Amino acid sequence: MYILGIESSCDETAASVIKEENGALTVLSDSVATQIKTHALYGGVVPEIASREHIKAVSYVVSDAVKQADIQLSDLDVIGVTYGPGLIGSLLVGVSYAKSLAASLGKPLVNVNHIKAHAAASYIENKVDFPCIAMIVSGGHTSIYQAQSPVEYIEVGSTRDDAAGEAFDKVARVMGLCYPGGKEMDKLAAEGYKLIKNGSREFIHLPTPSINDETLDYSFSGLKTATVNYIHNYRQKQNIPDKDLIPEEESAIIAASFTKVITEGICVKLSEAIKRYGAKTIVLAGGVAANSHLRAAISSTCDNMGVQFVVPSLKFCGDNGAMVAAQTYFEYINGVRADSFLNAYATGNISV
Ligand code: KG4
Ligand code: ZN
Repeated sequence: MYILGIESSCDETAASVIKEENGALTVLSDSVATQIKTHALYGGVVPEIASREHIKAVSYVVSDAVKQADIQLSDLDVIGVTYGPGLIGSLLVGVSYAKSLAASLGKPLVNVNHIKAHAAASYIENKVDFPCIAMIVSGGHTSIYQAQSPVEYIEVGSTRDDAAGEAFDKVARVMGLCYPGGKEMDKLAAEGYKLIKNGSREFIHLPTPSINDETLDYSFSGLKTATVNYIHNYRQKQNIPDKDLIPEEESAIIAASFTKVITEGICVKLSEAIKRYGAKTIVLAGGVAANSHLRAAISSTCDNMGVQFVVPSLKFCGDNGAMVAAQTYFEYINGVRADSFLNAYATGNISV
């Protein structure tokens, strides 16, 4: 069967066609219109502008995905769309478009949760045995789930304030880097680790995001504030105006120190989750799953604990249509159907 997935929850308008044959999923197309350049002017996503950009892009992106897949719209068997969580105006664009398309083609429509879709990106390329533990780390979420199947998730831990990606972006911005700064922080951290390894510098002491209690919860706001304060102090001492970049060596040490506490903190609760739930497989997904240091740290934690580690390839970590199409398939075979009353939801947990 052919499945179309439409994603518009934040600042990427994306669509993808996946072919399913005997349960195996093949991505036939993956079309993305990113708004990053537009929002970079403001240092973050401006919701009103995001909605308007989705309206401009959605028809083209969907046509492009169908064309790249070398099929006709009438060949589609099911259409899926992200209906939450995310920016409400942005979500409504994708939902309205998908409803109209499904109605005009007479095809079934499936509502997809964005967080479950991130996890589904891992199931496209890997065979995952359930139950497993899914760790979703993105710009809007940092949560641990116990997944019974690709459609049944129970949240067992979460951030109590900011998401990890949000903290990466904020620190990058205060350092003078462009939005979104996660990818640049990744590269800088690698430089910082080299300097620390060869003994020329040391890590800056920063607080862990792993909350020191029996829960599997995180808190990134203390770490974010401590890092931002460090940068402001450094700027004052060195007389560097806020709008200027700080020297690369200092940025590298800050990025490495910040990344170290994030990766270690995430691994602390993840190891606890593995023990508590007897997990045999860990799935890592979401935009921050692209972070090379986080991938390496979780991979070695899983190796040490004899657990299988599954993570999507880089192109499926950030928001994309293929993850929505994959989750559409799982929901569809479980009987999920949306009708013309489908609405979008800005917040809500995994079972939205
Ligand atoms: O999943 P995503 O595309 O959107 C949300 O659902 O939030 O995640 C975007 C987040 C941004 O905060 C971005 O800076 C972060 O993922 N990100 C990274 C990396 N690549 C993207 N963070 C750290 N290291 C990276 N390599
Ligand atoms: Zn996302």
